[in-house]
Amino acid sequence: MANVVIANDHGAVELAGIFVKHLQDRGYTVNHLGVTTNDSVDYPDMAKLACQEYKKGDYEFGVLLCGTGIGISISANKIEGIRCALPQNSFAAEMARKHNNVNFIAFGGRIEYSESPVKMLDAFIDSTFEGDRHQRRIDKIMALESHC
Ligand code: RB5
Repeated sequence: MANVVIANDHGAVELAGIFVKHLQDRGYTVNHLGVTTNDSVDYPDMAKLACQEYKKGDYEFGVLLCGTGIGISISANKIEGIRCALPQNSFAAEMARKHNNVNFIAFGGRIEYSESPVKMLDAFIDSTFEGDRHQRRIDKIMALESHC
């Protein structure tokens, strides 16, 4: 059974809960690192928790949520080895896997998406990395960690 790690701040408690249930319904073992209350936490701390857990291994991907998805995705992308997408819709979510092969996908709990975030998450899950020229570009992304 595939594992997913998920973390959120207080701006996305409800959407995170919906995702946890949906991922479990799809057969994933979900490690939800919180939070489950509206008490304020700092999204960089939640990004760090989830990314450190992901890097232990055995996770297919991770999901991060904050009010907009912006702060938590920026935070995740500062962590070595992490590529976190913040998709606008299902097409972007699909491409995040097909072309960018991201290991994290982020959402905003306070965002009014043009389509269901669950549908967007499914578009990501149901896609496969296409490799080839996209791997070359990903290698260049990752090289930016040490060459800039
Ligand atoms: C928290 O109030 C909010 O700033 C956070 O959830 C997120 O939207 C930041 O990018």
